[in-house]
Amino acid sequence: MSLFRTKDIDAMLAVACDDGLRKVLGPIDLVMMGIGAIIGTGIFVLTGTGALTAGPALTVSFVIAALACGFAALCYAEFASAIPVSGSIYTYSYATLGEIVAWMIGWDLLLEYGLATSAVSVGWSGYFQSLMAGFGLKLPAALTAAPGSVPGVQTLLNLPACLIMLAITWVVSYGVRESTRINNLMVAVKIGVVLLFIAVGVWHVQPANWRPFAPFGFSGIFNAAALVFFAFIGFDAVTSAAEEVRNPRRDLPVGIIGSLAVCTVLYVTVAAIMTGIVPFAKFAGVDHPVSLALQFAGENWVAGFVDLGAILGMTTVILVMTYGQTRVIFAMSRDGLLPERLSSVHPVHATPYFATWTVGIVFAAIAAFVPLNVLAELINIGTLAAFTLISVAVLVLRKTRPELPRAFRCPGVPVVPLLSVGFCLFLMAHLQALTWIAFLVWLVVGLVIYFGYARRNAVLHNHGG
Ligand code: ALA
Repeated sequence: MSLFRTKDIDAMLAVACDDGLRKVLGPIDLVMMGIGAIIGTGIFVLTGTGALTAGPALTVSFVIAALACGFAALCYAEFASAIPVSGSIYTYSYATLGEIVAWMIGWDLLLEYGLATSAVSVGWSGYFQSLMAGFGLKLPAALTAAPGSVPGVQTLLNLPACLIMLAITWVVSYGVRESTRINNLMVAVKIGVVLLFIAVGVWHVQPANWRPFAPFGFSGIFNAAALVFFAFIGFDAVTSAAEEVRNPRRDLPVGIIGSLAVCTVLYVTVAAIMTGIVPFAKFAGVDHPVSLALQFAGENWVAGFVDLGAILGMTTVILVMTYGQTRVIFAMSRDGLLPERLSSVHPVHATPYFATWTVGIVFAAIAAFVPLNVLAELINIGTLAAFTLISVAVLVLRKTRPELPRAFRCPGVPVVPLLSVGFCLFLMAHLQALTWIAFLVWLVVGLVIYFGYARRNAVLHNHGG
């Protein structure tokens, strides 16, 4: 059954100790990295659509999405503390569920991280253009959006989205220490802006706006939960930094659970205040709902700061997602499943330079030319599928390697992993049929590449496994 051959965990841990990547990250870096990946387009853009779908009960949708992520995060944390090597869930499944499952998960992560960088670049571009318009600066219409994304307007490409993606690629390729330093600064600004919104907005809440609380019933709440799940995506990127962490067994769980907890509190609060200031129906067609709420309250200055914070916030999301993706590619290439060149490390910067630029250019092109609003759901389905598998993998590893040291153990096994599976499948069921079809096509393409290339070139194929 060579399809299900697994990598030896002990050998992987040995390689991770001596891979040329620098071990420089601590727990605060990781929490900041998690928040950097989490707070972004989801809270700053998608909350508008979420409020239209669920009404003021959007707060409940956030809690449901957070629970799905929380259960999955506990599973992630156990794996991250037991197998602290680069490549995140891809690597964990290679050690437990077998090569073909690992390949499919890696392939799935390429979809998640890659399209997320493109999608968030497009969201960034919208806020950036609106900020520039405030100073009277406007791009020619042809350069403002992907072809066909604005009805009635001839557009050629989304130039700002493409440029921000390339700029971030440059930062990530330059070196991890430099990247996290920039990241920490921007995350601090982002959290500050969200707290500012809460501190100013709370005085403008009119409780009458919260009635009726759930105008579209449970189905509205669940559909919104499946959408705003996007707002939580990213905490898993923390695990992909495992080989660059000083004390991974202790710090990875702190990074994952800490960043998720902070974001959940902030999201629920922001959603409650937003829908308390503005009657939810007014969010129709708005792509800056958070700052709109402040404008509605007459706080135009604060709204301007929120716009700026949103731009910085989305910048860090692109940064961490790009970083995460290059590390997954690095790991897959080191295992022979992708061409070897993709795991070469730059002699000076000590980063996977070639992989970083390959990814950056591909997704900069997608950000420039593809209208990505519909694809947010595709990102969600890919991520939910990955979360489902990691939860199953925790159960498998408890059976196959019960003695493996785990600095962090997922509580309540098997109930918590099974709850994670249940929540994720439930949210997946609330995504559109078209999303499911596109996702299945992506998986079939992945299988073709696996049987056509990856299987034969796998390191395990040549050295036995
Ligand atoms: N969670 C990330 C965001 O909201 C993907 O932008």
